[in-house]
Amino acid sequence: MSDAPAAPDGRPVDLRSDTVTRPTRAMRTAMAEAEVGDDVYGEDPTVLALEERVADLFGHEAALFVPTGSMGNVLAVRALVPIGRELLCESSSHVVRAELGAHAAYSGLTTRTWTHPRGLVDLDAVRSLYAPDLGPYFVPTGAVAVENTHNFAGGTVNPLAALQDLREWATGVGVAVHLDGARIWNAHVATGTPLREYGAVVDTLSVCLSKGLGAPVGSLVVGSRAVVDESRVWRKRMGGGMRQVGILAAAGLHALDHHVERLAEDHEHARLLAEAVGVDPAGVDTNIVVVPRSDAADFVLAAREQGVLVSAVGPTTVRLVTHLDATREQVDRAAAVLGRLAAT
Ligand SMILES: Cc1ncc(COP(=O)(O)O)c(C=O)c1O
Repeated sequence: MSDAPAAPDGRPVDLRSDTVTRPTRAMRTAMAEAEVGDDVYGEDPTVLALEERVADLFGHEAALFVPTGSMGNVLAVRALVPIGRELLCESSSHVVRAELGAHAAYSGLTTRTWTHPRGLVDLDAVRSLYAPDLGPYFVPTGAVAVENTHNFAGGTVNPLAALQDLREWATGVGVAVHLDGARIWNAHVATGTPLREYGAVVDTLSVCLSKGLGAPVGSLVVGSRAVVDESRVWRKRMGGGMRQVGILAAAGLHALDHHVERLAEDHEHARLLAEAVGVDPAGVDTNIVVVPRSDAADFVLAAREQGVLVSAVGPTTVRLVTHLDATREQVDRAAAVLGRLAAT
C-alpha cells in the first residue's frame, strides 16, 4: 500500500501551511487499529503510550495530550505564571500574535515583548524587560516564552546556546521558561540537536503533531508531573477532556516513527522555493519561507489563479510552507509559478 497521499490532477499546490496535510494511508491504518479507552478516566492505552514517549523524548517527567498547540501553550503558561504576572515573549510569536488573547482571557496575565528580525531570543532585551517583584506597584515577570522554530519569522531556529544562556539567567532570577515547540521537530532535524537538549533548557514545552509531522490533530504539554496534573484539570475545565482519542494518539505515534527524519526533505524544498522567489536560501533554516512583498494580498491572488496556494501573514509578507503533502514535482511546479510572479 502506498504511503503517499492521493493527489488528483488539477489540485492546487498548497503551500499555505504545514497544517494542511492529510493523514497517509499507513497513518490511517495505524489509527484504525489503535487500542482505545476513555482518556478522561486515564484509560486510553494509546494516549498513555504517546504521553510517556513524548515526555521521555524531551527528558521531562510527564506529558498531556491536548487538542491543539494553542491549548498546549495556554495550559503550560498558566501553570507557570500566576494570575496578575507577566509573560515576556518575542513580538511576532504565536502566543502573543495568534492565540486571540487566550493568555489574558483565561489566565489573567499580561505580556510584554521584545522584537527580533528573526524572532529569536535576545537575552539583553529580555534582561531589560524583566521586572522583579517590587511589591504591589508593578507587574512582576513570571515567565519567558520562546518559539522554536519561529513561525512568522520564517521557520527560524533559536540556537541551543542562546536558549542555554536564557535558562541560566532565568534560573538565577527565578523566572520560568516555556518553549512553544509546535515545530521543534524541524529545529531538531535542521540542527541535529537532540530533543532532550531542548527539553533540558525549559520548564515546559508545547509540541505539535499536526504541523510538519502530518497528524490530523494533537499536541502535547510537556513538563513536571505537577504541571501536567494541573494542566489535566484545566484541560477538562476548558472543555478539552477527550474520550477514545487513542485513534488520534495512534496517528501521533505513527508520525514520530515515520515523519521526523523526512522533515529534511521539506527543508530542502523550502530552500528551492526561496531561491526561485529571490530570497537568500542561506536564511531559510527549515520549512518556511517569508517573502517580503509590498503587494502581499495581490501576490496571493495571482498565485492562486495559477494553481499555487500561499498565504499573506501581514500586509507586506507572503509565507510559503513546505510539508509532507508537497512532493518535489509540486514544489518544482510552484517554484516556476512563484518565480515568475516574484520577478514582476
Ligand atoms: C508556532 C506555533 N505555535 C502554536 C500554534 C498553534 O497550534 P494550533 O493551530 O494547533 O492551535 C501554531 C499554529 O500554527 C504555531 O505555528
